This record gives sequence, C-alpha cells and structure tokens, in this order.
Amino acid sequence: MSTLNETSSFYKGDDASLFWEMTICQSLGELDSPYMGALQKAATFGDMLLSRLKRSLSIDSNARIVEVGGGYGTLMGRLLNQLPNLKVTMIELSPRFAALQREALTKYPGVSVVEGDVFEVLGQSNFSADLLISNENIGDFPTAEGLLAEEIAGIIDRGTFDGSIKGRVARLIDRYQLPLPEDDRPFAFNLGALEYVEMLKGRTNAAFISEHSADIELKSPWGEFLNPTFTGRPRRIELKGHAEYSIRFGDLERAAVMDGWNVERFPMVELLGVRHDAGARFMAGAECVGNERAEIIHEFLNHVKEYECLILKR
Ligand SMILES: C[S@@+](CC[C@H](N)C(=O)[O-])C[C@H]1O[C@@H](n2cnc3c(N)ncnc32)[C@H](O)[C@@H]1O
Repeated sequence: MSTLNETSSFYKGDDASLFWEMTICQSLGELDSPYMGALQKAATFGDMLLSRLKRSLSIDSNARIVEVGGGYGTLMGRLLNQLPNLKVTMIELSPRFAALQREALTKYPGVSVVEGDVFEVLGQSNFSADLLISNENIGDFPTAEGLLAEEIAGIIDRGTFDGSIKGRVARLIDRYQLPLPEDDRPFAFNLGALEYVEMLKGRTNAAFISEHSADIELKSPWGEFLNPTFTGRPRRIELKGHAEYSIRFGDLERAAVMDGWNVERFPMVELLGVRHDAGARFMAGAECVGNERAEIIHEFLNHVKEYECLILKR
C-alpha cells in the first residue's frame, strides 16, 4: 500500500538524504495530482488559500506578503500567478530551499528571498508586512519537552521568568493564562509556536498559520466520518532524522485573542473543500487494497483531517 511518506515529494529538513514527506501544499500543487480526487472541486492549494484569505482580508494587488518556510516556493508561485505585483519576502532557514525558491520565483521582480531564521528576521526593527503566511512550519519550531506542571506552577508563583526553557514556558503560560495539565505526567509545550505568535503583534497586519493540530475537533459533515487524533497535549511525531510536535491550536488562538487579534480558526478540510459524499466516507474508512486511486484518497483524507488553520487580522 502506498503511504504519504513513501510516495511524497516534499522534503522536511536540511539534508536531502534523510527524509521525504508530502505537505498538503505539495500534494495539491498541480491540478493533475491524484490527491485532487479527495476534493469537491479540483484546485491548487495556493489558489484555494488565496480565495479563502480574500474572504477574510482585503489583499491589494501590490500588498507586502511574507512567507515563512516556503519550501519549494509552490504556494507563492500560485499567489504570484494571480497577483504578479505582490511585494514578496520569503524567509527560509534552509539554504537548499532558499535556492529552490529563488529559482521557482525568478520571473517575479518583486520577490526577495532572505536566508535565515524567522525569529531573527522578525526581530529586526524594520520588519513589517501586510500579510505573513506560515504554512506547515510552526511544528518545526522548538518544543519544550519533559515539563512538570508543579515545577512550572512554582515558577509562576515566584515570578522568576528567566531566559531558561522552563522560565520562558512559565512566562507564556502566565501571560496568556494557558491551562496547565492537572496530572503529574511530563508534558510538552509548543514554546517556539507561542513565542512566534507573540512576535506577530505590531509586525504584520494579518497572518495565516496552518499545522498539524493536537486539539482539533472536526464538526459535521467531516466529523461524521473522519476522526482526528485528539491528544489535547502536543503529540510527538517521529520522522526519520528528527521529530516534530503537533500544535495546541487552542493555546495559539487564546494568545492571539489576548494580543488583540481577530481570530478565525478552522480545519484544513474546510479550507480545501474536502469531499464528504458516500464515496469519500467509504474510502476514508476502508483500506481499499488493490485500488490505487482509492488508496491515495484514503491516505490523504486520513492525513488532512489532522490539520488546522488560523487567520489573524486586526
Ligand atoms: C514542512 S516544510 C513546509 C514547506 C511549505 N510551506 C509547504 O507547505 O510545502 C517547513 C519549511 O519551513 C522551513 N523552516 C523551518 N524552521 C524555520 C525557521 N526557524 N525559519 C525559517 N524557515 C524555517 C523549512 O526549511 C521548510 O522550508
């Protein structure tokens, strides 16, 4: 049976020999992709995202857009195809992907690719944007592991928010009034993702963020046949060569609201218009052995069901 990991064409990480994994954006990068069979209406991820953003935000044809961790540049290529005068900055940690983005977007004069860590680039005093896009990369940001609720509560009580990992976690939990686990099992905290959301205020007028969610609850119609893994806490996802954690979108949403953003939170299946007819319901549940097309749709449905999105706007 094919799996998303084995058949993928998207590499996560910096050493191409390590691991390849398909992102939603790459899976739906071309109209002839077999994954289009999972959608009500075939469209590329970039075109669907732009339509969705336009429903919530006014995007001028010459807006200043920043994309963080843009991989192959596929998403930005679609946006520029529709809005060629956008002023685009790509911020990319991986030299390899930065080179691929320069190549993919070379025909658009308004594009610059900055090679570096988004936390450093956002920290520069002259940074500003109309819209910042962070598609499937906040799971790559640092996660604090092995935390104990009692220890973090103690730091909060004492107010000793130093620059240590625990101090940073405690400060964010205190500042945004985030819930601590009620038991004494070690927990993980999306430290990088929360610090990132905190940094957005005053630096961009709007933001789009998507990632693998730890606390997604799908509603009807998709919730009737797709059951995402609701762990509540960030879940470690083992990949070859490195691990990522799923994101507690409830924490990000709360932080953004407390920072004064208007927040829209919705599942990726809604953004994409994923099928929910009888055929899709059957393929989502069945292993479909021997029918390659159905297997691909089965894999895609059971992958995309885990993802959530946020739009932050003023
Ligand atoms: C999983 S890929 C997603 C690529 C693309 N957005 C997509 O959806 O296909 C994560 C991307 O984020 C980049 N990245 C990870 N951490 C980063 C950081 N701290 N600053 C800038 N880019 C980062 C990676 O190099 C990679 O391009």
